[in-house]
Amino acid sequence: MRKQIVAGNWKMNCTIEEGQKLTSEVVQLVQDEVQNEAEVIFVPPFIHLISLNERLPFKDQVLIGAQNCHQNESGAFTGEISASMIKSCGGSHVIIGHSERREYFGESDALLAEKVNTVLKNELTPIFCCGERLESREINTQEAVVGEQVRNALFHLTPEEISKVVIAYEPVWAIGTGKTASAEQAQEMHAFIRQAIAEKYSTDVADSISILYGGSVKPENAKEIFSKPDVDGGLIGGASLKSRDFVDIVKAFD
Ligand code: PGA
Repeated sequence: MRKQIVAGNWKMNCTIEEGQKLTSEVVQLVQDEVQNEAEVIFVPPFIHLISLNERLPFKDQVLIGAQNCHQNESGAFTGEISASMIKSCGGSHVIIGHSERREYFGESDALLAEKVNTVLKNELTPIFCCGERLESREINTQEAVVGEQVRNALFHLTPEEISKVVIAYEPVWAIGTGKTASAEQAQEMHAFIRQAIAEKYSTDVADSISILYGGSVKPENAKEIFSKPDVDGGLIGGASLKSRDFVDIVKAFD
């Protein structure tokens, strides 16, 4: 059985007070209302990691991740955060290769491959993001683009290593735009990614990897998207900043 996961990427939002309020609300609602066992992962800006770690009462279901980390273990990299620092704050996951990192910070596939290695070496779980831009979707090259992103950043891993990775398919045209890929478009791409992994590794390995969908997931569309056989959950941006919406998305697995 693959893990079902709903991860909330706060991006560059929330002061400490706002983050604490949001976390407490989400934790309470999860405790009171959620019937399923999907993993819920908070992915706040780094400054929140410690305070979130102190606020999570049941760490088997509710976990903490970071939005990025540096590829090096430590050293003179002013302004950066290492995987071991994230781990020491109670983090268990790290988003790698979010399209905003690729676009605004020039992160290449080669760099992302290094980051994935560092995250795994520190026994954390990478949530590796891939996804095409609108131009590719319009000329129907989305599979070539996503296939290349996945191959370049992940296919150097051993079967044991890649089995520990979570993949998030996030079409760039659907992020923060209110435009969601249809459940069929998500399923099609998730099946394609899983097939590529099966061909390179094995069906067993491919079947063990959780593939999340991201891009304007809301309470209204989560159930349909999550019901698809190759969709194992979501990476949620905007809606993760509203406790009610975020928990309603988690409840889509009930
Ligand atoms: P969104 O963001 O839900 O606001 O579209 C998703 C993401 O970027 O992870």
